[in-house]
Amino acid sequence: MKNLTNKKILFIICGGISAYKSLETIRLFKKKNVEIKTILTKSAKEFITPLSVTSLSQGKVYDDLFSLENELEMDHIALSRWADVILVAPVTANTISKLSQGSSEDLASTVILASNKQVFLAPAMNVRMWEHQSTKNNLEVLKDYGYKIIGPVVGDMACGEFGEGKMSEPSEIFNEIENFLSKQKINKKVKALVTAGPTNEYIDPVRFITNKSSGKQGYEIAKSLHNRGFDTTLISGPTNLQIEENINLIKVETAEEMFKVTQMNLPTDVAIFSAAVADFKLKDQKHDKIKKKDGLTLNLEKNIDILNYISNHNSMRPKLVIGFAAETKDLDQNATSKLISKNCDWIIANDISKKEIGFNSDYNEVTIHYKGDKDKKERLSMKKKSEISEEIVDRIIAQIN
Ligand code: PMT
Repeated sequence: MKNLTNKKILFIICGGISAYKSLETIRLFKKKNVEIKTILTKSAKEFITPLSVTSLSQGKVYDDLFSLENELEMDHIALSRWADVILVAPVTANTISKLSQGSSEDLASTVILASNKQVFLAPAMNVRMWEHQSTKNNLEVLKDYGYKIIGPVVGDMACGEFGEGKMSEPSEIFNEIENFLSKQKINKKVKALVTAGPTNEYIDPVRFITNKSSGKQGYEIAKSLHNRGFDTTLISGPTNLQIEENINLIKVETAEEMFKVTQMNLPTDVAIFSAAVADFKLKDQKHDKIKKKDGLTLNLEKNIDILNYISNHNSMRPKLVIGFAAETKDLDQNATSKLISKNCDWIIANDISKKEIGFNSDYNEVTIHYKGDKDKKERLSMKKKSEISEEIVDRIIAQIN
């Protein structure tokens, strides 16, 4: 049983028939001693009363952006900072649309816009509204902002129709948030290191060998780790990506630099090697630009294998070493042999022969191979790299706990 004492939820209730289910959701959280403050939108008050919400939540109900009394007690910015997590349940198609536009026309949307906390949305609407392309587009925007969507589910609707659009049950909403909050607490002091992106191996001062890695997969893993409370260091080859300020980002260019910086950032508890490090470097890098007339013969030698070195380090080996395997064929076979030869705890294999996943795509599809049991593997089907990262981090948390 997870302990949620001292956790704080800002619960926003929008107008819809399923607003009545929020009372049950509040009850589940209160049983676990979660502190709850609530915002009711104008239309939510057509379905449930502030009195019933405040009686159950034993916390303040807010409803007005321009209330002097509320602003004196806790202004809307402080309210957005107060919570560990913001839950909007039910969230209507209208509010989804407003949030995707960055609207701040009422208290609920203003608080969400001002928040730096994880936002969960539990949609509820008619099946046609749910299936409408505009709702889908708006949700994609919100997912890109990092909002997590719970449900909806398929079922009979209040309007008499049947289909997807029914709000998830309170127990399901409770479980998702409970999971998130308990993980948040556990991982505060765990250190994680991620390598990402390509490396450049110079031929002469202006030319180099590199590869198509964009760094997206590694950056998303670093973000997920950071969001779950890991003390995260990201060592990145050259990319155009941005990352949150409180992730310790160290930019490098060559494999040699990546190796040095990785060593300097040990010890760490977890290390994830998603960088596409160039396997070869120039044996005799030229100090002057090579002239066309001189012709070009590349004399290559092997680069240090950073993963292999760290995973075999006696005193500094992280507790959990995770490698990636980028393969164009015999995915499982090559991944398991890298798992063993590079002494990893897990290896995450991706098929880089497919254009829609892997290198420089927003999507990936991976198989995680676990050490110790050659048949123990888990496939994560094709989804956004941000979602793949979340699932990888879920497993990391389960492992280190
Ligand atoms: O960056 P993106 O565009 O988002 O693409 C993501 C990705 C496809 C690059 C990523 O998911 C991935 O597969 N990364 C590993 C790429 C790779 O170099 O794989 P590999 O099979 O050649 O290497 C195996 C492992 O050894 C990797 O963990 C790699 O980081 C590590 N390695 C390899 C060579 C080397 N000199 N040092 C290393 O640490």
